[in-house]
Parts: sequence; structure tokens; C-alpha cells
Amino acid sequence: MPPGPRLPAVVQTLLWAVAPVKFGKACMRRYGSLFTVRILGFGEVVYICAPTGIRRILRDDAGNFDAAAANESIRFVVGGYSLLMADGAAHTSRRKALTRPLHGDNVAAYVEVMVSIAEQEVRRWRAGHRVRLLGSFQRVTLEVMIRAVFGITGSARLSRLRELVPRLLDLDPVIILLPSARRDFGGFGPWAGFQRLLREVDRIIYAEIADRRAQLTADPASAGGDVLSILLGRGQDRENITDTELRDHLVTLLAVGQETTATQLAWFFERVLRAPGALQRVRAAVDGEDWKVLDAAIHEAIRTRPATLDIGRIAVRPWEYGGYLFPAGTMFAVSLGLLHSSSELHPEPEIYSIERFFPAEPPSAHFLPFGGGSHRCLGASLAMVEMRTIISTILRHVRLELAATAPERVMAKGPMLVPRRGAEVVVTENHLLSGATPAGPVRE
Ligand code: HEM
Repeated sequence: MPPGPRLPAVVQTLLWAVAPVKFGKACMRRYGSLFTVRILGFGEVVYICAPTGIRRILRDDAGNFDAAAANESIRFVVGGYSLLMADGAAHTSRRKALTRPLHGDNVAAYVEVMVSIAEQEVRRWRAGHRVRLLGSFQRVTLEVMIRAVFGITGSARLSRLRELVPRLLDLDPVIILLPSARRDFGGFGPWAGFQRLLREVDRIIYAEIADRRAQLTADPASAGGDVLSILLGRGQDRENITDTELRDHLVTLLAVGQETTATQLAWFFERVLRAPGALQRVRAAVDGEDWKVLDAAIHEAIRTRPATLDIGRIAVRPWEYGGYLFPAGTMFAVSLGLLHSSSELHPEPEIYSIERFFPAEPPSAHFLPFGGGSHRCLGASLAMVEMRTIISTILRHVRLELAATAPERVMAKGPMLVPRRGAEVVVTENHLLSGATPAGPVRE
């Protein structure tokens, strides 16, 4: 195995869980872009942070690696039919089903709803008040997911999901890491509580699926452009997809798409408000609908403050790389976050600079915000359209200032790396409340 810290596994696990970015960067400085850490519950984990190694795992030698096995720890949430639980042919066919609803053309139709959801949130922000943007964006992205992406409109289901989903996704990391902690103590304890929540969320999703199936059978023309309508499809397709498959697809999208987008949006404002000149640049881009500049600003926020640090893979056969022969069963952490923080690939990596991505972009192998290969983020178009729309809507209506001069520290919250104070800002003007901005709809 490549070298790595000699600290006891329990200390390494703590550092990895509490300060993953600092720990990862310290290891990379000391051992280079290939190192081994020991994590309780996973054993030895080999970190890969160089473009060549990452490319080989995600693309060239992808058949040598299992993504599903690396995601096993969240099977109890997303279910066995989830895209995250499949590789090879099963993965290809599940992915094919989900590609159309999440395709860029289809996603453009969600923009109008996204604008109204973002405006609804902005109406809560009074001038002079402090706002923790992370909490706001968690509400907004959840709403986008259930109303626009799932197409759920019934007010009783909507309000119940608004309440339950955040609690469901705020999973106790001990339950994820230690299967032995998944025990019911006579209806008490975190596992029992989680099971109750999951049953309640499932009950709502299954009820929605049943209603939509019946509605589409009675009136096929009632199909909307949301994921559920498209997956339910027409006639034959509808009978071929089971309720469990549909449920697993929806819960997967919630699990991987909602908090990541909310966290990246929070970091975007935390970074842009702090970087000299960046806010003016972004405002001008929004006013001129110059999406290339706005995308560059979003990419730089993802590069400097990723919502998650790495993705997992397990070798299914021996694999040779960097002078080592790794046996089958080796667990790898493909660290996109550490790749993006490399000073060789991104000079002065700590500095937030939109110019890194505009007018010229870095080589694609050096920046992979949405991963690569057959498991590349299926929601990348949706995430970019959503972030663009929400940022533009906010900047058209309000003026924000930082609540504190010190940059927010990165805090691990389960698998997410969130701003410690939740990206706290002060609202200095809100034209939506004073009725001063007749902002037009945000176009893609
Ligand atoms: C800024 C926000 C987002 C970021 C940074 C992000 C990043 C990623 C990355 C790096 C992967 C690759 C995982 C791997 O290779 O194992 C991934 C996978 C995935 N993402 Fe995203 N994601 C975001 C938002 C979304 C959204 C909004 C959705 C959908 C609603 C979504 C759906 C998915 C799905 C379904 C996969 C699994 C793809 C597969 O295994 O074939 N993501 N995401």
C-alpha cells in the first residue's frame, strides 16, 4: 500500500470525519497524490488525487471498479433499485431511464418554477436582518426537487415532505458507518427513529406514485415534464416499471441532488462576497445574461469549496498504478476535492478567482466538478441551471453583505462540507419587498 499517516486508526478516523479537508490536504502535502489512510468501518482506503489516476479509475479502467459496492453503506436509504447500487448492464439501463427527465432540454422547463420558489424564499428576507443562506438554500432546493423534479403539487403531501425530508437526510453518520448500530431498542434509538421517518416518507411517495399512475392511465395527455411523469411513460412502459423502482429513483435524487446543490449555493455566496471585485463581476454577468461568466464563478466556488471531497470505488480485480499492484477488494477514494486543491494544477489554489475559468477553462482532466465516466453526475445540467437561476433571482432582488469578516470554516456535516456559520449574510436591501424590481424571468 502507498504510504500514509502512522497515527492510530481511531485518530485517523476522527480527523477524517471532523476535518476531512485539512486532513486530506496535510496527507497530500506529506505523501503526494497517492496515499493510504485507515478508517474504522472501511479499513485501508487509498486516496487518488492525480489526474492520471483519477482518469484511469473513472474512465479507462472503469470496468475494474465497483461503484455500487462503495455505496453499500447507504443502500438502506436509497434502496436496491437505485442507480447508486448498480454497475455494468444494470447501471446502464437504470441510467438510461433517468437520462431523459434530467436532460438539459427537459430541465430548462423547470426554470419558471425555480424562479418562483427562489422569490418565495427571498420574501422572507427583511432588510437589516441576518440570514443563514445554507438553511434558505436547503428549503429552496428541496422545494425545487419535490415540486419541479418530482411534480408533486398536493399541498398536504408537499407540507409533510417539507418537514420530513430534511430530517431523513440529516442521517446520523454512526448509522452510515457502522451497520452494527442499526439496531432497534424496543422502538427507541436513532435507528428506530430513522425507520419511522423512512416509512412515513415512503408512504407519501408510494401514494403519489399510485395517484399519478391512475391519472396517467385515465388521461395519458396529463403527463407533465417531471421525472415521475416521464418515468411512468406511456402504456407499456408504465406497466414495466414497479413502484419500488420508482420510489428508489426518487429517493436517490433527493439523497444525491438536494443537499449538494444547497451547499454549493451557500459556498458560492460565501466566496463571491469575500473576493475583491467578484460580486461586481457576477452582478454584471447576471444583468447582461452572460452565463459563461456566471458559470465560471460557480465552478470556482465548487473548486475552492466542494460540497463533498471524494467518491468511492472498490477494485474488483488486481489493479496496477503508481508502482503498486493493488489487490481486488482495495477501497479507493477518488478525491476530486484534493485534485482541485493541487497547487501544481491550480496555482494559488486558495484564492477565489473567476478568471481561472474565464475566458479560458482549465484542462478538463484538472477540473471534474461532476465526476467523469459512466457514473458522471446525472443531475449536472439540472444543478447548473438551478444554481444559475437561484443566484440570478437573488442578485436581481437583494443586496447582501457578509455578516462577519472572517471566512467561514469548513465543517463536516455527514458527507457534506458546509460553511460553519451557514454562510451568514446581512440583507441590506430587498427590492422584492419594497416592490422596486420588476425583474424579468431568468432564461437558461
Ligand atoms: C452542485 C451540485 C452537484 C454536484 C457537485 C454533484 C456531483 C456529483 C458527482 C461528483 C457524482 C459522481 C459520483 C460517482 O462517480 O460515484 C454525482 C453523481 C450523481 N449525481 Fe450529482 N451532483 C450535484 C447535483 C446533482 C443533482 C441536482 C442531481 C439530480 C437531481 C444529481 C444526481 C446525481 C446522480 C443520480 C448521480 C449518480 C450517477 C450514476 O451513478 O450514474 N446530482 N454527482
